[in-house]
Amino acid sequence: SCVRSYPDFPQPGIIFRDIFSVMQQPTVFADLMDVLIDYVKAKHKDIDAIIGLDSRGFLFGPIICLQLGIPFVPVRKKGKLPGDLMSTTYQLEYGSDVFEVQKDSFKPGDKIVIIDDLLATGGTMSASVDLVKKNGGVVEECICIIEIDDLKGRNKLKVPFKSFIQF
Ligand code: PRP
Ligand code: MG
Repeated sequence: SCVRSYPDFPQPGIIFRDIFSVMQQPTVFADLMDVLIDYVKAKHKDIDAIIGLDSRGFLFGPIICLQLGIPFVPVRKKGKLPGDLMSTTYQLEYGSDVFEVQKDSFKPGDKIVIIDDLLATGGTMSASVDLVKKNGGVVEECICIIEIDDLKGRNKLKVPFKSFIQF
């Protein structure tokens, strides 16, 4: 009930579930972060890094990383990251894009949790899983706060997936 919904945004037929509306309710935002941090602490005692997806995954990943004392690694849309990169193309609920990660941002064999605000078709998350695997990472779990469950995006993922709110 704390997630504001916008029908027909950004295209007709899409209901936009706005995670920023949660962040504008400080006690709800605090409760949400407690839930996320408790979950990751209990389930992932020896992960090496959390990867957040550009851009709304950047809102939550770093806060969890601070509590766990582990690195935060960004996966970014094309053209934003410097250095040697791995890249992959992905389909969105509305359009397509390219994701990149810095090759030296984690080591082969590192255990990774990927976080984003929302899973819709699963295109964004499954491309990120491929990108992390291509760079030698081991994806322990993908986490989204919100899941649009009738789109069945989780079926695209070949790794464990957790969501906290389902629409
Ligand atoms: C939204 C959302 C997820 C993705 C989910 O991001 O934040 O990352 O779409 O859609 P999918 O499961 O169908 O791939 P968007 O690409 O709109 O960009 P943003 O995070 O920068 O706002
Ligand atoms: Mg996003």
